[in-house]
Amino acid sequence: MKELRIISLIFIIFCLTSCYYDVEEVLYPSQECKKENMSYSNDIVPILSDNCYVCHDKNVRFGGIVVDNYQDLILNADNGVLIGAISHSAGYSPMPQNSPQLLDCEIQKIEMWIMEGAKNN
Ligand code: HEC
Repeated sequence: MKELRIISLIFIIFCLTSCYYDVEEVLYPSQECKKENMSYSNDIVPILSDNCYVCHDKNVRFGGIVVDNYQDLILNADNGVLIGAISHSAGYSPMPQNSPQLLDCEIQKIEMWIMEGAKNN
């Protein structure tokens, strides 16, 4: 009898954790992060315009950094400063300044765009 109770308890715990997982997958299908064949205009610009342009466009240019056009952006993409700042790596100023870090998926998209050659596409 005691054994049966332990077995059903284990079963219930197992079910609870796996059922919870299923529900999470159904509720948040968008958690999947598409990060292949990144496009500068479709994938990168929306992230930067939402989070960065306010401090880094041609007029404001905090820290001398401009990210609101391709030519200026790739200067800091090629030298690693952009990734250092958004991934909050030691030795870089964490960006966006005074705001929560970008979503993991957004950071991965920018990293992948650079790894794929930082194309102007
Ligand atoms: C509220 C204003 C503000 C926002 C928003 C902001 N920045 Fe900055 N950023 C600054 C300032 C000020 C500096 C220069 C001072 C410093 O390095 O801390 C800077 C510096 C940087 C640097 C140079 C970092 C270094 O270590 O040399 C990069 C790259 C950068 N920002 C990129 C971004 C990106 C990408 C975003 C959006 C994800 C962003 N910033 C959002 C204000 C901002």
